[in-house]
Amino acid sequence: MKPIIAPSILSADFAHLAKDMEMINRSEADWVHIDVMDGVFVPNISFGFPVLKFVAELTDKPLDVHLMIVNPEKFIHEVKALGAHTMNVHFEACTHLHRVIQQIREAGMEPAVTINPATPVALLKDIIRDVYMVLVMSVNPGFGGQAFIEHSVEKVRELRKLIDETGSKALIEVDGGVNLETGARLVAAGADALVAGSAVFANQDPEQMIRNLRNL
Ligand code: DX5
Ligand code: ZN
Repeated sequence: MKPIIAPSILSADFAHLAKDMEMINRSEADWVHIDVMDGVFVPNISFGFPVLKFVAELTDKPLDVHLMIVNPEKFIHEVKALGAHTMNVHFEACTHLHRVIQQIREAGMEPAVTINPATPVALLKDIIRDVYMVLVMSVNPGFGGQAFIEHSVEKVRELRKLIDETGSKALIEVDGGVNLETGARLVAAGADALVAGSAVFANQDPEQMIRNLRNL
């Protein structure tokens, strides 16, 4: 099965965002990946809801919202108001992860849990049946264009095993340093969805790059 491709607009041209959104709309991208940062959970700030309100209006593709913020449960209403398909919260940012996952589902969105590179897959054992997706970070979150952390391929393999063993239906998404080479290895290891920022937007032909990633 072809991987789900979610271009990350963090690497888009913010001065001409509408143009980049049109490219995504024309392309074979499945979702649009949106990175929200607060300067606390991660050492960077990206964009907030007043900006995203307009971004959301520029596409009909499902929005995959990745919150790199503390207390993400405070913003369930705002994410829902964007019309988001998935709401990704970090394992490391939620004291009561089970409750947050339930609240996201009750709000009518698909809940996803994200793990940082240093967070072991084994810690997901008691939540894996409750989530729509696990997002494996293959770089330390906060910036686009970073080098892929090799160990992530092994983590995807481990996660695939955990999902199969527990009868969970969770999808596996990977985010950070994804290109044609790392993407192919991630898909072979069991990834269902790939996020790509710089690989898409730094390319001369972003639409073709999305098609190539989708055909991995
Ligand atoms: C990083 C973000 C990513 C980022 C990926 O913190 O979560 O979604 O946009 O960018 P690339 O694909 O350039 O590593
Ligand atoms: Zn992301």
